[in-house]
Formats: sequence, structure tokens, C-alpha cells
Amino acid sequence: MTDTHAPQPDRELALELVRATEVGALAAGRWLGRNEKESGDGAAVDAMRRLLAAVHMDGTVVIGEGEKDEAPMLYNGERVGTGDNPAVDIAVDPVEGTRLLAEGRPGATSVLAAAPRGSMFNPGPMVYMLKWIVGPDAVGAVDIDAPVTDNLRRIAGALGKRVNDLTVLMLDRPRHAEMMAEVRSVGARLRLIMDGDVPAGLLAAMPEYPYDVVIGIGGTPEGVATACAIHATRGEITGRLWARNDDERSQAIEMGYDLDEPLTTHRLVSSENTFFVITGVSSGDLVDGVTYSPAGGTTESLVMRGSTGTVRLIKARHRPEKLAQYGAAPLH
Ligand code: FBP
Repeated sequence: MTDTHAPQPDRELALELVRATEVGALAAGRWLGRNEKESGDGAAVDAMRRLLAAVHMDGTVVIGEGEKDEAPMLYNGERVGTGDNPAVDIAVDPVEGTRLLAEGRPGATSVLAAAPRGSMFNPGPMVYMLKWIVGPDAVGAVDIDAPVTDNLRRIAGALGKRVNDLTVLMLDRPRHAEMMAEVRSVGARLRLIMDGDVPAGLLAAMPEYPYDVVIGIGGTPEGVATACAIHATRGEITGRLWARNDDERSQAIEMGYDLDEPLTTHRLVSSENTFFVITGVSSGDLVDGVTYSPAGGTTESLVMRGSTGTVRLIKARHRPEKLAQYGAAPLH
């Protein structure tokens, strides 16, 4: 018998938002390997912005392409959507991994997240944060103040694995030299990536993928977007802001940022009512990239909802007319 008191199904905004990352990926994908970072990003921005205008929401871009002067579209503070309810903060990364796309490498994606108005952390001038990202079985295992080796032993314990069986994902950066040495010293496996710690975070936060943890210093805006997805996977992101130099440190403190404060999933996005979508631009471990043919194009996306924890994998076929409409027709 139907339980008449059970909550009624409500709107899944992410199922609408995914149309924006799909067209963003289709437009950007034309620029694969052309060594033109701005063109690929610009194509995705234009396509996403046009589609977002039709989504029924009152969105404000909180994490966008930067300040209005430098980014004519999808800039921080821009209003997107029709203006109808719900009122949401938007985090958008039209091409996450612009260098991957420009250099024709795997793992470039298009990312969009929404959460109730006022719930997303404002990174301000803080470009970077330290991040530890784990899946649901390792929630609580990471102590941000503990040495890397101790945390890895605790994660292994929580997952019922030997530490040698753990696979760590890390951005390949000189600033990570010490962390890499610690990972190696404890005997865990280390997979280095060139860019894209948002898809890397999802790989670590979902048990079905063969990666256990992301460690490293990456973008703070990317950390906020990732946190929207982590609410859905029931994993955990923990970190803290990371200043590049003394000037950045003093500026942040002056602006009221606490550089010692642990940034948890809830601190990065205070509501669990999040929506997160990611579409592949170039094929990677998480999602396949776009393909084109005379019949149109294909996309693969993950669509996630924080409140219910539903994660959908959506493969879509798009007609040539649609590609033409969103700037994803063949380039000459
Ligand atoms: P962009 O596509 O915006 O360049 O970001 C790629 C990225 O690798 C992010 O995934 C990551 O958080 C950040 O850059 C790391 O910054 P940096 O390249 O300066 O180390």
C-alpha cells in the first residue's frame, strides 16, 4: 500500500542543469588539442550561458569565471536562470582542466553545481586550499592536523585494506614533493594527474572507482564545487585554506579568513540540498568525452543530488541542429 504520509517526489534540478554541461562539453570538445585554452573555455561559457537562461531558477554565480572585468560571462555575481524559485548559489567551471583540453589530454570536464542561496563558501582571494577527499567508508578517518602517513594508515583501516593497497590521487605539482615522499614512505600507490581535481575528487568519493583518496593543494573554488558532489556521495572533503605567500596570508586575515580553520564538506557548502553535474569533454577515468559524427554528438555525464544521494550516469545523443545552435558545429 502507498504511504500517503511519505514525502512526495520533488524537482530534481540537476536533471535540468545537466543540459548546460552537455552543451558546454559539446562546444568545448571541438577545441581538443588545438592549443587554444581561451577558445575552448569561451565556447563552453557561451553555450552554457545560453542554456542556463532557460532553467527555472533564481541563480547567482558565486564560483564563476572570475570578476566581471576579466570574464564577460558567467562572472561572479552574475544572475542566471529565469528568476523563478528556487534561489540558488551557482558554481560553474565550464572547462575544468583547460590545459588538458588545449593539449589534447584525458580528463577535461564541464562542471556545474547549485545549492540553496547563501550556502556556498566564498573563497574570496584564496586561490588554493589543502584537500583530503575520501569515500563514505572512510568518513572520519582523516585528521587534517595529523601526518600524511597516519591518515593513510587510518584510511586503510577504515576500508579494511592494507596501506600498500591504497591508491592515492594527487595533482603533479612541485608543491606536493613532501606529500609525495610521505605517500611513498608508507607504501601506498600514487597516481599523479596533470589537472582536474574535481573529477579526481569524485573518483575518490565513490566506492565503485579504484581510487581511495585525493590529497593535495588545489583550487578553492574547485573545492566548493566538489563539496556539492560529496554531499551526494556521502564521502568527505576536509582541508584548509593555503596561502601562497605572506602577502596573500595577511590579505586573507585582514578580510576575516581563518587560515587554521578546518574546511569540512559542510563548511564548504552548508546545505545538503545540493545539485551537481559533470560532463566529459575528453575521456577520462570518470566519464567519457564527447564524440562527433555526421549524426550529431554524444555526451556522458554524472548527475548527483545531495539530499537523496542519487547518482545518475546519463549518456546522451544530440542532433546536428543542436550542435549548430550551441556553437558545437565542426570548426574549419
Ligand atoms: P583550470 O581548468 O581552471 O585551469 O583548473 C585546473 C586545475 O587542475 C584544477 O582542477 C585544480 O584545482 C587547479 O587547476 C590547481 O591549480 P594549479 O594548476 O595552479 O596548481
